[in-house]
Amino acid sequence: MDLAARLFRYLDRRYRLREPLEYQLNKRIPAHLNWTNCFGGITFVCFSVQALTGILLAFYYKATLAEAYTSVLRIMEEVPFGAFVRGLHAWTANVMIFMATLHLLKVFFISAYRPPREFTWVSGVLLFFVTVFFGFSGYLLPMNQLAYWATTVGTQIAGAFPLVGSYAQLFLLGGQDRGETLTRFYALHVLVLPAVIIILLAAHFSMIRRQGISEPL
Ligand code: HEM
Repeated sequence: MDLAARLFRYLDRRYRLREPLEYQLNKRIPAHLNWTNCFGGITFVCFSVQALTGILLAFYYKATLAEAYTSVLRIMEEVPFGAFVRGLHAWTANVMIFMATLHLLKVFFISAYRPPREFTWVSGVLLFFVTVFFGFSGYLLPMNQLAYWATTVGTQIAGAFPLVGSYAQLFLLGGQDRGETLTRFYALHVLVLPAVIIILLAAHFSMIRRQGISEPL
């Protein structure tokens, strides 16, 4: 018996893995599925690339007003494969938003939001907002002119919201003088949003696993 089989037997005797694993692996795929059903999966692949490249970038990025811009320059010019990893992170962010939009449109047009999948839809809408907010919060981090002015415009849009707008703007900027804005965006980008998206993805996937893919109308 090879090592993998022995390891599996060892774990199976302790945790009874065979039955649930066989159930998951032998699930039949409905005949009506087509390539458009890959949009959600591709969005998830993008998220996985984002997580991996984001962790690599965090090893070199410095989230202070004095060092953010120069640390990004260093990633681009000195760190081995730095420009490649940063490029992958930035481009996959765009592809992720694009694929999430395609996925949203697809499930909308096949009316997959109808009962019993209402909460899959609601978790999807939240996932969409979180994905866009990932992009927005990441945009400031290089601290170049584009980042600064894009954030100025973005937070002003938040500020124009009725009733809660001024609070949202103050929360995002972290105060009136903008000294804290970078720290706040970095904390949202690498701590808060990853935690929120993992919880939402777990909910999204477990509902899909439990209910299966919807039948055509
Ligand atoms: C990070 C973003 C997202 C990921 C990774 C994701 C992933 C997935 C995956 C893998 C599936 C199963 C395969 C498929 O039917 O495509 C799925 C199904 C579904 N998703 Fe998403 N999704 C995301 C965002 C959204 C958004 C924005 C919406 C809508 C607002 C949404 C609503 C749904 C619904 C209703 C289903 C069930 C489709 C059916 O049963 O036919 N998801 N999602």
